[in-house]
Amino acid sequence: MCGIFGYLGHQQALPILVEGLRRLEYRGYDSIGVAVDDGETIQTHKTVGKVSDLKSILPASIDGTLGIAHTRWATHGGVTQANAHPHASENGTVHLVHNGIIENFQQLRKSLSKRGVECKSETDSEVLAHMMALELEKGAEPLDAVLSTLRRLRGTWGLCIMFKELDMLVCARNGSPLIIGQGEGETFVSSDPHPLTAHTQRVVYLEDGDVAVIHRGSFNITSMKGHSVEPNITVLDEAWGEAELGDAPHYMYKEIHEQPDALRQCIAGRVDREMGTGRLGGMGLDHSTLIQAPHVRLLGCGTAAYAAQIGQMLIEKMGRIPAVTHISSEFRNNDTVINPKAIYLAVSQSGETADTISAIKEIKLKGGQVFGVVNVVGSTIARLCGKGVYIHSGPEQSVASTKAFTNMVAALTIFATQLGRTRHLSKDEGRELMQALQQTPHLMETYLEDIGPIDEAVSLLCEANSVLFLGRGLSATVAKEGALKLMELAYIPCLAYPAGEMKHGPIALLEEGSPVVVIAPNDHLKEKTMSALHEVKARGAKVILIHEQGDAIASEGDVSIAVPAVHPALTPLLTVLPLQLMAYYTAVRLGRDVDRPRNLAKSVTVE
Ligand code: F6R
Repeated sequence: MCGIFGYLGHQQALPILVEGLRRLEYRGYDSIGVAVDDGETIQTHKTVGKVSDLKSILPASIDGTLGIAHTRWATHGGVTQANAHPHASENGTVHLVHNGIIENFQQLRKSLSKRGVECKSETDSEVLAHMMALELEKGAEPLDAVLSTLRRLRGTWGLCIMFKELDMLVCARNGSPLIIGQGEGETFVSSDPHPLTAHTQRVVYLEDGDVAVIHRGSFNITSMKGHSVEPNITVLDEAWGEAELGDAPHYMYKEIHEQPDALRQCIAGRVDREMGTGRLGGMGLDHSTLIQAPHVRLLGCGTAAYAAQIGQMLIEKMGRIPAVTHISSEFRNNDTVINPKAIYLAVSQSGETADTISAIKEIKLKGGQVFGVVNVVGSTIARLCGKGVYIHSGPEQSVASTKAFTNMVAALTIFATQLGRTRHLSKDEGRELMQALQQTPHLMETYLEDIGPIDEAVSLLCEANSVLFLGRGLSATVAKEGALKLMELAYIPCLAYPAGEMKHGPIALLEEGSPVVVIAPNDHLKEKTMSALHEVKARGAKVILIHEQGDAIASEGDVSIAVPAVHPALTPLLTVLPLQLMAYYTAVRLGRDVDRPRNLAKSVTVE
């Protein structure tokens, strides 16, 4: 959620920290701050707002090669300058930035208060600076001051700490990602891999419980018990550096248009057309395990959960075994029964979503094996699962997920085909589907070259008090994804329903002119979906119809948007495109902050 960047090296720290923050800003963006050691003192500058707001209050330069920086998504305490990080101890010996939540901070705050130490902010993070400073006062070394503070905490942390007059940083991770980048005579710290690619490809992902002491160009890692930990160096994929906006007006626009190529990346080498099946080597599942699996459970949040729901339907259809999708935040608390022979799939773009991480841990604790369907290589979920499939969307910077959704769906389609081929799916059916999947990037391109009357749809949506999205089967889930996109970007209340369920309640919302988005690809459910369309039209609603090219139903919509015809199992990969564009252009027309919608963050690392 929040972003951390730290630097210790031979270059001026301030520009490096500000650039790191710029690349991290999509993680959280309500307030921002930086602290740089200028050799005499630690200069801190922080403000409510974004990187551009920080830049406007920064001095032209600060002469210093050591510093820490933070972009915040508020959890404890409002969006104020006082609550922005870095936080410092009263005597200024400790400055730190923190991601995560300290659950027992109230109790810690009270005991600090008893010792005469009052916090200046409402955050849970500030107490840590005071606690560490007290340990230093008692004569502890910096590492020991950090360790003894951490041992008193309950909660999660990604921490980067600097100390007055000490040429070092200390970092710690427990539940909030933190990565160390190793340069020549310089070391970087980041909560996200991609800002590091501008400086180095050699990184170390800290594990939960790790504490790292960083000096210029070198670092040591210890466990919470103080034992030395061998660093595991990973070489980052260069593609993660190519996340610049270029000529595109917004990241979301860029990422919508990257979908054909991203899909090509996702399916490359994973389709066996000869055998009519999929090849997901990273899952390491042999045929006998697939045959014996009693059921499949999928986990995710938001868009990832919708991709999982589409995967679930395809798994049942092709694999003929029960499949169910769980919203990760519910899963952990519902004490769900785990069958260790079942297949569990955790779906996540960031690979850092705390709710999904908790659910995975719960399944593992009960003996189940979880496979990741993840975008960010080396992310917590990818490492926690150990096996799985990378969806290869490349960096997704806009808060609203687009190209990750289509690649999650594609990866799950390949998995469903692989599972189906070990059971009831014939070679011919498998071949037909895999061949159609390989043609889908081209069909996406065809649509994106001529997006149809999106502008007319946007004119209806901009005026709406609420919007209803309807579809059946796979399209019922596409409807949910379309509603989520429009709601999060344009701040218009949106409701998505399976078309058949509409008459059981939501129809009451309809009045003259209410926009209703109907997704009706040419599948076996289209006729039934059209009945719902007629019911909404009879109540004076304005229908925005998403249909397949050449279909006579085009005349039924007040605004009709055609997508290329495709295999019925793959329709979500095309019907979602106009929904993404409608959300994007509505948000633009309403003057919303498209890439950074209010209150949201890209990577939701708190439960
Ligand atoms: C919606 C969106 C969110 C994420 C959700 C899960 O556009 O982006 O709903 O899909 O927070 O995130 P990941 O996929 O990173 O686990």
